[in-house]
Amino acid sequence: MKRLMVAVACALLAGMASAQDGKAVYDANCAACHQPDGVGALGLAPPLAGTLGKRMAVPEGRKYLPGIVIAGLAGKMESKGVLYEGIMPNWQQFSDAELAAVLNYVLTTFNAAELPADFKAIDAAELAAARAKKPTAKELRAWRAASQ
Ligand code: HEC
Repeated sequence: MKRLMVAVACALLAGMASAQDGKAVYDANCAACHQPDGVGALGLAPPLAGTLGKRMAVPEGRKYLPGIVIAGLAGKMESKGVLYEGIMPNWQQFSDAELAAVLNYVLTTFNAAELPADFKAIDAAELAAARAKKPTAKELRAWRAASQ
């Protein structure tokens, strides 16, 4: 019984990697390139503000965000008419819950206006799925193109 309670407490804590933690992960690891408010930086990294919400309306978009933080991506990417060519590192050192939290922070803070009405927060299980079967760069680009 005691062990069960500990397990339940741990599961609750893992699930609580919340918006707060998402902001902490973002500020410490993503803001240097994407900027604290997600506007991106010319020649360095594309914006994460106002560009990701609509992607949540289709399955490809839901696979794209977990996929890119798990696998990383390098090469040319166009966003809002600007061409970026840089390296998006992978973030496999973070737990599934932490990565879900940082994506939910980016989505609900910088992309709230474009999120579909029935948007459900990204779940740690979606990160686990990406980790179990890492997408290739080709897949990521196809998912991005299919979720614009
Ligand atoms: C070293 C700079 C750098 C850091 C740090 C970084 N990124 Fe990126 N990110 C990039 C670049 C460059 C791209 C575009 C990749 C390409 O051109 O293929 C990108 C692309 C993305 C995209 C896709 C954007 C789109 O329009 O499709 C997301 C989402 C993203 N990053 C999230 C994050 C998150 C979350 C973090 C922190 C955990 C992070 N990035 C940290 C450089 C960075």
